[in-house]
Amino acid sequence: MRVLIAGNWKMHGMSQALDEVRKVAAEADRVACELLLCPPATLLERAVGASAGRLAIGGQDCHWERSGAFTGDISAAMLADAGARAVILGHSERRQYHGESSAQVQAKAKAAQEAGLMTIVCVGESEAERRAGEERTVVGEQLVASLPPQSTPDNCVVAYEPVWAIGSGLTPTPAEIAAMHGFIREEVCRLLGSAARAMRILYGGSVKPANAAEILSLAEVGGALVGGASLKADEFLAIARAVRAKINLEGPIVR
Ligand code: PGA
Repeated sequence: MRVLIAGNWKMHGMSQALDEVRKVAAEADRVACELLLCPPATLLERAVGASAGRLAIGGQDCHWERSGAFTGDISAAMLADAGARAVILGHSERRQYHGESSAQVQAKAKAAQEAGLMTIVCVGESEAERRAGEERTVVGEQLVASLPPQSTPDNCVVAYEPVWAIGSGLTPTPAEIAAMHGFIREEVCRLLGSAARAMRILYGGSVKPANAAEILSLAEVGGALVGGASLKADEFLAIARAVRAKINLEGPIVR
């Protein structure tokens, strides 16, 4: 399984931003990892065209039903029909601003996997939860309730995103990231069986070119989910190039 560098554009990007997709596509063959960009839904289909098949394009959310009277929502089947290959689910901004529960995230992830999409299921503790020493309890509960039982390394990736590190410029220490990723590895294997040893666990939260090599070199870090630094092709590609450092240091992390 190759390292995955995924970009979450959130509610950013007009037509002009497709140039960034083209720039990433032009370099995609030169990086030693898989690339995924998740633009807003309005750009999704055009981003698929701009990607020229060199990187994957994904959505940022989906509904758990295939179709129906759900104004404003988009189904997993619709994302797949538009050319998406993956979808981010349970991002803390969805959990916080849209009140998404882990049960809803699990229903969405199940629908997305059935639609043939790879799901990026996000988990992570708040600042108060970390200060109270509850980060493992919170993340453990989110994993149990958010991951569909049929999740495999091929259709599912976990993203550990401490809420306090998102968009803040703050990151946990390397030791804290490694400890949490080790815990998540144990939990996914307990929940899904030993095949989950190969499931990629991404780190997300203020990943940028300056810290990518160190974060990506940590044990059990199988890639990154990048917000702000994914909006510019140059920065996103610089993070993807940091994967090379990992391969040089430790050999390929193909499991
Ligand atoms: P950030 O966002 O890289 O801007 O901190 C990460 C995310 O929300 O996925």
